[in-house]
Amino acid sequence: MRLIIYTGKGGTGKTVNSCSTAIKLADLNHKTLIISSDPAHTLEDAFVVSAVGNKPIKVLDGLYALQVDPVLELAENYGAILSYVASIFSRRGLDETLSYEIAMLPGMTQLFSLLRIEEFIRHDKFDCIVLDMPASGEALRYLYFPKLVGNIGEKLLGFTGVFSGFAKMFQPFSSFAQIPPDVIQVEINLLKRLELLSKIIIDPKITSLRLIVNPDTFSIENAKRALMSANLYGINVDVVIINKIFPSDVPNSYFTRWIEYQSRKIQEAKTSFYPLHIIEERFYEKELKGIEMLRENAEAIFDNEDPSRVFYSDKVFEFVKSGSTLILRLKAPFTNKDNFEINRYGDNLAIKVLGATGYIVNVIPLPVATITMKLFEVKIHDGIIEVTFKE
Ligand SMILES: Nc1ncnc2c1ncn2[C@@H]1O[C@H](COP(=O)(O)OP(=O)(O)OP(=O)(O)O)[C@@H](O)[C@H]1O
Ligand SMILES: [Mg+2]
Repeated sequence: MRLIIYTGKGGTGKTVNSCSTAIKLADLNHKTLIISSDPAHTLEDAFVVSAVGNKPIKVLDGLYALQVDPVLELAENYGAILSYVASIFSRRGLDETLSYEIAMLPGMTQLFSLLRIEEFIRHDKFDCIVLDMPASGEALRYLYFPKLVGNIGEKLLGFTGVFSGFAKMFQPFSSFAQIPPDVIQVEINLLKRLELLSKIIIDPKITSLRLIVNPDTFSIENAKRALMSANLYGINVDVVIINKIFPSDVPNSYFTRWIEYQSRKIQEAKTSFYPLHIIEERFYEKELKGIEMLRENAEAIFDNEDPSRVFYSDKVFEFVKSGSTLILRLKAPFTNKDNFEINRYGDNLAIKVLGATGYIVNVIPLPVATITMKLFEVKIHDGIIEVTFKE
C-alpha cells in the first residue's frame, strides 16, 4: 500500500502531476485511486472527464477518481457532533444554516479528506492512493493534525474529548444537562481513526510527500518551508518535481532571459533539495491535460521507474530538542570545516558551502522554538553539520 501526496504553491502543477502519476501507476497494474478536495473540480478538467464525485468512479482500467465533498463528509459521518453544537446555537435563536456554519471548526474540511483516505486504507481497497492537496501554506498542518489530535485526544479521552470539549464551552447556553452519549461515541471513533491515520502518514514505507516547484523564487521558497515542516512532522519527502522548464532551444529571443533565469533557479533548487530525487519537467507547448498527454508526461518524468517506488527515505535535516537545547542536523556531503559558513538572519539560517563551481547557499527556515534561543555552536562531522541553539 502506498500513499503519494503532492503539494506545492498554487498553479505549480500539483493536479496534472498527480494525474500523470496515477495513470502510470494504473498502467503498471497498481489499482490506484486519485483523490482531490479542490472545490473547483480540477480532476475533471485534467482528465477531461465528467461526474467525478464523492464515490470513486473509473477513469481507466485500474484507475479511479474521487472528489471529496468535505461538507457532505462531515454531515454523513459526524452529523451527531455537528447537530449537537448547531442545536445549541439555534436554540439561542440563530438561523439553522448559520448555526451549522459556525459549528464547523476551521481546518475541518481538509481533515475530512484525510479521513476518507484512512477508510480506503483500512479496507485495503487500493494498492496506491494519490492525493492532490490544495495549495496552501497550511496544507501540511492538516497532515500533522491527526497526530496532534490523536495524541491529545488519547490523553483526554477519559475525561472529555476534543470535540465534546469544544461542545462543553457552549454548555452554559445549552438546555442539555449532559453531552449526549452518541456525540461521545462518534468522537471516540473519530479519535481512533485519527490515530491510525497519523501512523499511516509518518510511515515512510507507506507515505511519500512530493513537492512541485517551478523554476522561480516564490515556489522554491514555499517548497523549502514545506520540506522543513515535513521533516519536523516526520513525514518522508522523496521527490521534488521542477515543472514548467522552458526548453533551451525555444526559437524566440523573448524567452532568452527567462531560460537563463530558470537555469539558475534549477541549480538553486537542486542544491536546496539535495539529496532528494529531482525530476525536471518541461513546459509543454500547450496546456497539459487529457489522458493521453498526461500519460506521455508520466513517461517523460518517471521514465522506466515505477512512481510507487520510495525514491528517498531519510531526513535531509532534522531538529532534535533536549531540554532547553535544540540541535539542527543537516546532511551536507562534500563539506568540511574550512569550506562552509553559517549565519542566522532572524528566523532563517543561511548555510554557505564552497562547492566545485563556487558558493552555494541554502537558507533553512527555523522552527518557532528557536526565536528565544541563541546560536550556540556549529560542528561538522561525517558530512553532517550540527548547529546547536540554546535558551
Ligand atoms: N509542464 C506543463 N506544461 C504545460 N502546461 C502545464 C504544465 N504543468 C502544468 N500546466 C498547466 O498549468 C495549469 C496549472 O496546473 P495545475 O492545475 O496542475 O496546478 P495546481 O498546482 O494543481 O494548481 P492549484 O494550486 O490551483 O490547484 C494547468 O492549466 C495545467 O494544464
Ligand atoms: Mg490543483
